[in-house]
Amino acid sequence: MSDIAKLQIGNELYEFPIIQGAENELAIDLKTLRASTNGVITIDPGFKNTGSCKSDITFLDGEKGILRYRGYPIEELAEKANFLEVAYTLIFGNLPTAEQLQKFDKDIKENAVVDEEIKKILEAFPKNAHPMGVLSSLTSALTAFNPSSVNVDSEEEMYNAIVKIMGKFPVLVAWTMRKKQGLPLNYGSSKLGYVENVLQMMFEKPNEEYTINPIVKDALDKLLILHADHEQNCSTSTVRIVGSSHAGLFASISAGISALWGPLHGGANQAVLEMLEAIRKDGGDTKKYMAKAKDKSDSFRLMGFGHRVYKNFDPRAKIIKVAADQVLTDLGVEDPILDIAKELEQEALLDQYFVDRKLYPNVDFYSGIIYRAMGIPIEMFTVMFALGRLPGWIAQWREMRLNREPIGRPRQIYTGQNLRSFNHLDKR
Ligand code: ACO
Repeated sequence: MSDIAKLQIGNELYEFPIIQGAENELAIDLKTLRASTNGVITIDPGFKNTGSCKSDITFLDGEKGILRYRGYPIEELAEKANFLEVAYTLIFGNLPTAEQLQKFDKDIKENAVVDEEIKKILEAFPKNAHPMGVLSSLTSALTAFNPSSVNVDSEEEMYNAIVKIMGKFPVLVAWTMRKKQGLPLNYGSSKLGYVENVLQMMFEKPNEEYTINPIVKDALDKLLILHADHEQNCSTSTVRIVGSSHAGLFASISAGISALWGPLHGGANQAVLEMLEAIRKDGGDTKKYMAKAKDKSDSFRLMGFGHRVYKNFDPRAKIIKVAADQVLTDLGVEDPILDIAKELEQEALLDQYFVDRKLYPNVDFYSGIIYRAMGIPIEMFTVMFALGRLPGWIAQWREMRLNREPIGRPRQIYTGQNLRSFNHLDKR
């Protein structure tokens, strides 16, 4: 195949190089398009055909159901690694040695305290504020307490910024939930591993010792690993583009949290549980909702089914389904919502409409179920997604800064009014 793409505009013929990725993906390199064509640009709403960068971090193939971080298959990482190991691998490129991992863990723990003044900011939020809004604000507020900008030429400064956010973020995550529940704001324990500490900080009661259930811990570890990166999705692209203006790491992550909040992105896991609740309140008739989902005159969709990229299966959903079954069995959870979820899953997997359109349960269908079984409130589901995605955002921000990427600044095709004159108010 030729490594040149030819474009004809009028009588002029232009040539652009075709570049190839490590997994043979092809792209037309249009860097010189505007300059060589005297102002012609491409237009691609939603960037469905646009690669915004070259990246060494995550490879995914939606048709084949492949997801790999730094070359490692997600299935292997979910089975053999813990979240902190995966975070290190995503951010720094290779699996850590025992020594590197120990240092990473220790440095994160040393940074796992936030300025007490942050509590005052949290106090000012109403109790019914959505935790994603609170988390985004508090993450942005960290900038005020850690104001020095990161010199990206210094490996040490870069590393320090990374362990700072890795340490402080879980504290903010736990506090957003504890604030809602009226619980005292705690710091967990530096004796615990990263994921154990998250659980302790979230669930510890002031009057009793919190015992970590290893099944719950393992399931959360897996969930965080599965959500840790997904290449140039909406929130990751946001982090990269905000960071491309050289705004700091905390500010860039805060913007990513806002992007993740939406129901078309990270908010889908909340939407799944809200849908299941609505079905229960309506009598629990799953067949009625299956019919609604298939009815083209009805806007209802089965939340948690289908995926924009994965058209065969979502490899993350395959892994998490097993964990969900295990958690539900081991915890002996009895919950009508979960029964409805299981019924819907069974019916959809056998239904011709869903089979024909390759609509399988996605990762959000099962993650919501596990979070629910763990006792995590629905509004916190997207916050848990953010906790998992943090290393991915950091890795992508770091890569973008180290690659000296230019500021993200798309162009547009103007479709508004042509030149017209200003009329004074009394003449309008
Ligand atoms: N329920 C019922 N029908 C569906 C569903 C669904 N969940 N998803 C897709 N379809 C149907 C469509 O109506 C369409 O049918 P048609 O061909 O007869 O017109 C066909 O399947 C293809 O659907 P599209 O909307 O073209 O698929 P697209 O790739 O654009 O959408 C999306 C993917 C947005 C995820 C969609 O499947 C959906 O809305 N799912 C529910 C929401 C959800 O779970 N989102 C979370 C995604 S995972 C994540 O973001 C981490």
